[in-house]
Amino acid sequence: MKPGKLNILITGSNGLLGQAVSKMFLRETDHDLLITSAEEYSYLYDKCEYRTLDITSKDDVKRTASEFSPNVIINCAAFTNVDACETEREASWKINVDGVKNLIIAARMNGARIIHFSTDYVFDGRNGPYSEDAVPNPISFYGREKLASENALKTSDIEHAIIRTLVIYGTGKNVKPNFALWLVDKLSNNELVNVVTDQISNTTMVEDLAVGTMRIVERGCTGIYNIAGPDVISRYMFAHNLCEVFGYDKGLVRPITTELLNQPAPRPMRSGLTTFKAEAELGFKPMDSMEGLRFLKFQLGH
Ligand SMILES: NC(=O)c1ccc[n+]([C@@H]2O[C@H](COP(=O)([O-])OP(=O)(O)OC[C@H]3O[C@@H](n4cnc5c(N)ncnc54)[C@H](OP(=O)(O)O)[C@@H]3O)[C@@H](O)[C@H]2O)c1
Repeated sequence: MKPGKLNILITGSNGLLGQAVSKMFLRETDHDLLITSAEEYSYLYDKCEYRTLDITSKDDVKRTASEFSPNVIINCAAFTNVDACETEREASWKINVDGVKNLIIAARMNGARIIHFSTDYVFDGRNGPYSEDAVPNPISFYGREKLASENALKTSDIEHAIIRTLVIYGTGKNVKPNFALWLVDKLSNNELVNVVTDQISNTTMVEDLAVGTMRIVERGCTGIYNIAGPDVISRYMFAHNLCEVFGYDKGLVRPITTELLNQPAPRPMRSGLTTFKAEAELGFKPMDSMEGLRFLKFQLGH
């Protein structure tokens, strides 16, 4: 694809990642953006054109795409509640898999490429961190859905990039609480938190993920890219780092094991994603968790 001005359609723009990606493209590029999400309102409404778009509606997706003629579709929309995916299988599949198939149809009609987000949950978590060519083996329904969405793209004739990421943290307007925001909420009120010591992975500052996404779009990259922070640590260690940065009492963080949480969806335990490919090809230099948390503290005005 020639470098130059692009028409970029962003779905799920009200989510944590959707907001960060939309803001990054608005601030750093002069591409024409159409931001869309399931809700009737947008938090970036006054900054660029916004339309309500439910990606499960094939007709709406086709109509919106044919009116805007995107060169690139960035799919930030998803059903992201991992435990709810176990029980709400039909509803979550409709968004996480069928929604992506609708975008593939729209991309084909407009000659657009797709940038899609996936997860370390496509792996079983027995021997992470995983490279881009590791063999997936999902253990949760969410993981199976995200793998099915990857496969829908891989078996399509559409030019695409799949960005695998994990444990995204950061802030935005009305975003659902991520791990870091949940910790800040509890610990700033001196509440005890139980945090697992046996789930190990890297974590990802959402702004780094937005930068990685922008480079993948602008350089016309295709294939799978892992985008994540550099340190592979336990959730417990991440909570300790957060206490250090925000000045909270580390004694409020109680170590527990995943088994005690009784979560409906099994988690990959020894997980993580290696990011050598993104570092080499994109010059990707993400913040480690301490730097990312200092940035979050600044953003929250703490
Ligand atoms: N969060 C993580 O730790 C993590 C880790 C690995 C991978 N990922 C992947 O990263 C991507 C973004 O995740 P996120 O954390 O930004 O999720 P999020 O905050 O839950 O945002 C997802 C957004 O998708 C939108 N959406 C839901 N159903 C939709 C539909 N039918 N049509 C259009 N939009 C719809 C929602 O928009 P409204 O608010 O307008 O309803 C929501 O804001 C997802 O693909 C996710 O699987 C996330």
